[in-house]
Amino acid sequence: MAFLSWRDQYRVGVTHIDQEHRYLFGLINEFHDKHRGGADDKALEQVLNRLVQYSEAHFRHEEETMRASEYPLHADHCALHEALYMTLFRLSEELAANSLRIDMDTHRFLRAWLVEHILKHDLAFSDFLAQRAKATPAVDDKAPAESTEE
Ligand SMILES: [Fe+2]
Repeated sequence: MAFLSWRDQYRVGVTHIDQEHRYLFGLINEFHDKHRGGADDKALEQVLNRLVQYSEAHFRHEEETMRASEYPLHADHCALHEALYMTLFRLSEELAANSLRIDMDTHRFLRAWLVEHILKHDLAFSDFLAQRAKATPAVDDKAPAESTEE
């Protein structure tokens, strides 16, 4: 069984965001599995660097979607992403400087790093989208265009 399993409750409901979240799950699992399999620090550093790079791109995509959706908490969410990114970046620097001893706490930390953000903050965006969809009539429900008077 995977260290970090995808669950339906993590779904934001925006295809590219969910796909990227799943990819992040995969990278965290890869880091865990390689460590458990006895990989050296260099190999683990590579996985962590991919996680740093991918999360940066993912955060940008997610922020762009929030901006386009006129999400009122967009700026707050960007600040959260910045803090998340820095936490991960510092971890990768510690590993590169040989000052990080990877253990189960590191893996638990990475799991919480991603899952808690999704559950608390990304799902708030999901709720916003759902509420807005309810409040906005679908295109088909709109009254037909009035005919021009003769
Ligand atoms: Fe997010």
